[in-house]
Amino acid sequence: MATKTDPKTTAKADQKMAAKTDQKTAAKTDQKMKNIRIFDTTLRDGEQSPGMSMNLKEKIEMAKQLERMGVDIIEAGFAISSPGDFLSVKTISETLKDCTVASLARANKADIDRAWDAVKDAVDPRIHIFIATSELHMQAKLQMTPEQVLEQTIAMTRLAKKYCANLEFSAEDATRSDRKFLAKVIRAAIKEGATTVNLPDTVGYTTPEEYYDFLMDIRSRAPELDNVVISTHCHNDLGLAVANSLAAVRAGVTQIETTVNGIGERAGNASMEEFVMTLYVRKELYKAKTNIVTTEIMRSSNLLSRITGVKVQPNKAIVGANAFAHEAGIHQHGVLKNPLTYEIMTPASVGLTENNLVLGKHSGRHAFSDRVKTLGYALNDEELNIAFGKFKNLADKKKSVYDRDIEAIVAKEAVQVPKTFTLGGFVINSGSTITATAVVKLNRDGKSIEKVARGEGPIDAAFNAISKIVGKELHLEDYTINSVTEGVDALGDARVVISEKGGAPYSGRGLSTDIIEASINAYINAVNKIYYAEDTKGIQ
Ligand code: KIV
Ligand code: ZN
Repeated sequence: MATKTDPKTTAKADQKMAAKTDQKTAAKTDQKMKNIRIFDTTLRDGEQSPGMSMNLKEKIEMAKQLERMGVDIIEAGFAISSPGDFLSVKTISETLKDCTVASLARANKADIDRAWDAVKDAVDPRIHIFIATSELHMQAKLQMTPEQVLEQTIAMTRLAKKYCANLEFSAEDATRSDRKFLAKVIRAAIKEGATTVNLPDTVGYTTPEEYYDFLMDIRSRAPELDNVVISTHCHNDLGLAVANSLAAVRAGVTQIETTVNGIGERAGNASMEEFVMTLYVRKELYKAKTNIVTTEIMRSSNLLSRITGVKVQPNKAIVGANAFAHEAGIHQHGVLKNPLTYEIMTPASVGLTENNLVLGKHSGRHAFSDRVKTLGYALNDEELNIAFGKFKNLADKKKSVYDRDIEAIVAKEAVQVPKTFTLGGFVINSGSTITATAVVKLNRDGKSIEKVARGEGPIDAAFNAISKIVGKELHLEDYTINSVTEGVDALGDARVVISEKGGAPYSGRGLSTDIIEASINAYINAVNKIYYAEDTKGIQ
């Protein structure tokens, strides 16, 4: 006799079965997925490019965010290149707990010793040595014969291996190297203990098809590569860095070197967010995945822009301001009906949240602290107090305080250098028929110093007055002002880059609803960075 079943129960059971089958299929697909390690070189290749230099506090903050995002290996710097680089690699090595920390080293003893000194306290230290293998680089740069390069590779990988089990060897300019010679060098490096072999496209010269063929060819010439991690490091001179990195995944590479926002030498490196999201969106095509927590992508991109003051172009894939904006009416209509019409990934999947109104002038310290934590920032008590004070000031002036305003305040506080100078006050007199004059008062060590200066406009006059107080001849290299959110009461975010004659550039940021005050704060912030660098003996 047939039993009667409740259609609702049957439907529920069907759904459960389907969900289970989906989970099983997902788990099976996941098992079949290759895991691609992300080696982040934002703090090394990225930081060494023009306008991207960061001080110690900024590097530590960025490194913590990279760790939170799930990066597998962080190249924290090039330890021998300066005392500042050494200290930042060392501090990052001591601070991070969840990822491998690497330092770059040329294939010589001094570099390797310094790199090891800097990374040895990391939970998983790595030394990354490199030597050029192309005819052009060997002759013009190294002035070494191929035999000498081979000998140096053997001696230096052997030395580095004595210090560090986790050893990466890079053949610089690999894609323009003689393949027979390159294979010889690689085999020697592996024999001496290299655990990762990186085959960079140093000058961004190759193309996806060619790179795929190159990697397959090198794998057949050096079969030992099957026993180590093969890595790529692609530059973007022809705009192909991400495409080449994806071709490398198809050729069996399991470590990809990237940077946040694609920063790096010349046209930059493969962009982390573009590479990661391509694997995420097209996993069935590449059968590969990364450990990156994609919802942290936006925050990493914003933090880097805030620290360096360099914004990404609006149409930049994944993290550009327009990446998820739909202007055309026909597109908007489609997206409202079904987001899949014009969106291949959700804004939320990269951590782009609604610009929610979160707090107002009646919100207390507790609510503020909670929101700061939710946004992913860990401030100590003092930093939280300062940030809360700034939030209160802002909430007094601005009707609506958004997440982006809070992030702007907090991210700035987290990378704050000691405040040698603080703003005591200012009065500006300017107009179309008079020369702008500024009176600025700064505080230093409990004393107040006031100076008057003229300028081409109110901001120039204010900057001149600060230079007089500081007693340094400061040159303004760059100045920009943007609004953090929209509206007449938006927070102005000013950035200046200043330098002393012949000295390094220092950038400063300032926030205020008054753009002159934001600019003055940015200038003072840059001056304080100069003092911080001097106090820490050239550490920048
Ligand atoms: O571009 C390059 O080849 C490099 C190496 C040092 C890995 O940055
Ligand atoms: Zn590079």
